[in-house]
Amino acid sequence: MKNPPALRCLFRPFATMALLGLACLVASCSRKSESTAAGAPGTTRPTVGSVKIGFLVKQPEEPWFQLEWKFADQAAKALGFTLVKIGATDGEKVLAAIDNLAAGGAQGFIICTPDTRLGPAIVNKAKAARLKLISVDDQFIGADGQPMKDVHHLGISASKIGENVGAILAGEMKKRGWAAADTAVCAITFEELATAKDRTDGAIRALIAAGFPKERIFKAPLRTPDIPGSFDAANVLLTQQPGVKHWLVCSTNDSGVLGAVRALEGRGFGPETAVGIGINGTDCIVELEKEKPTAFFGSILLSAKSHGFTTCEMMYNWIKDGVEPPRDTRTVGMLITRENFRQVLREQGIRD
Ligand code: GLA
Repeated sequence: MKNPPALRCLFRPFATMALLGLACLVASCSRKSESTAAGAPGTTRPTVGSVKIGFLVKQPEEPWFQLEWKFADQAAKALGFTLVKIGATDGEKVLAAIDNLAAGGAQGFIICTPDTRLGPAIVNKAKAARLKLISVDDQFIGADGQPMKDVHHLGISASKIGENVGAILAGEMKKRGWAAADTAVCAITFEELATAKDRTDGAIRALIAAGFPKERIFKAPLRTPDIPGSFDAANVLLTQQPGVKHWLVCSTNDSGVLGAVRALEGRGFGPETAVGIGINGTDCIVELEKEKPTAFFGSILLSAKSHGFTTCEMMYNWIKDGVEPPRDTRTVGMLITRENFRQVLREQGIRD
């Protein structure tokens, strides 16, 4: 119970001081939500006039989204607002969550939607409930099939990061002296999501630019964007292409590459015969920590801090001071491998 100002105010005996007491109480409650905002949702009580922000993510079990939340928690603590973290895994949950946020007195929310085509419905609901809205990671798609550029968004520079992956794969192939004739690319794709398509398209473009033969690049579409989905997609491709001696693997994120690496292992491929580069740099830490190297060579570490902390800061300033965030913010990434990941993760505040 670290609330001396509140207690002092509550016990002030003079009626003339009642107003001041109320002000103290409000201030101390705000501080209380500051200190508990990092805890479980629902543990903090909002105060009249205090800022409350929702943070909805599509895959709450994934390390990337847990890290976004971790940085959002840090923003809540640093700025002193109440953070409500909600795992919104389908459209119904998203719409119900927006209702609950509005009923609970929130003024805005940040969302990585489970389906970008929900964009117009989310915008309408947010407008009706007078909630400010920032999309993160996955940009909304409008009824016309185009990105909803009027919705404030923070996401990655997907094409550039994908191209980076492709260029690194081409370089690793060269270093190993693999011949194009017995090497192939396994691109685990999720083309219904624009940021995912941009990433694998970018990787393929860079591989071709580096001279890799187009006809030896194979796409394996994900049915579900997770490790089991990628394992299945890769297995189908590996069955169809039994003659390949060396594989280069790219995908939309770490999970996409991890599933493929596991499928490759099932067929006898390892770090001597396959190279995979992920994206996120957060869902592959356990893989990189493994004592023996695997075909998962490295990953482009994204800035979870920008996606979690900065989005919250933008929303907070918007709610509190009317400072509208930029319409479109794009973040970059950097390669982590077994060589440097411990140091980089420490520098980025991801690992101690
Ligand atoms: C998408 C992916 C996540 C992560 C984010 C980064 O949402 O599904 O794994 O890569 O983009 O913005």
